Amino acid sequence: MFRGKIEGMDKVLTTLTDLEAEATRFTSTLVPDTGKATLVTLSGELGAGKTAFTKAVASALGVQDTVTSPTFVLEKIYRLPEGQAFKRLVHIDAYRLESGKELAPLGFDEIMRDLQTLILLEWPEKVADTLPPPAVRIALSVRDDGSRHMIYG
Ligand SMILES: Nc1ncnc2c1ncn2[C@@H]1O[C@H](COP(=O)(O)OP(=O)(O)OP(=O)(O)O)[C@@H](O)[C@H]1O
Ligand SMILES: [Mg+2]
Repeated sequence: MFRGKIEGMDKVLTTLTDLEAEATRFTSTLVPDTGKATLVTLSGELGAGKTAFTKAVASALGVQDTVTSPTFVLEKIYRLPEGQAFKRLVHIDAYRLESGKELAPLGFDEIMRDLQTLILLEWPEKVADTLPPPAVRIALSVRDDGSRHMIYG
């Protein structure tokens, strides 16, 4: 859930530092939903910056472990420091999944029921058949000059 309306907002992020600053700003706008976990999907080609964005969100939430790409392990769960609305960050990379059914072994349904969990999911297109509607959809693309175009939907 969000404070304010961000639908359709878009930004050009020239450097990785800009992307990190945007992720920090975005994180500060997040408030837990009252009925389910908060699902944020990250779309965009390989190398667009989905994991980089997730790392910056994790850092803004106080995660001190190194956040690495979960491409091979598919899912990483981080317990967040006390004193904030979210208690858990779940980072899922669906790139290697063939359908939404493959989310079940990751405990996705249980994760989705926990109001204090924030989920960042890369490659939502791979699991679109079962994925519940996200709170926010983020799309990243690489521009010719290497900067990133980010759209919130
Ligand atoms: N403005 C920018 N925003 C984001 N990343 C940038 C930017 N400029 C350069 N980069 C670099 O681009 C790479 C983005 O890689 P990242 O792993 O985040 O992509 P990804 O979208 O998660 O890809 P994949 O689909 O393979 O998981 C990083 O190495 C990062 O340093
Ligand atoms: Mg990635």
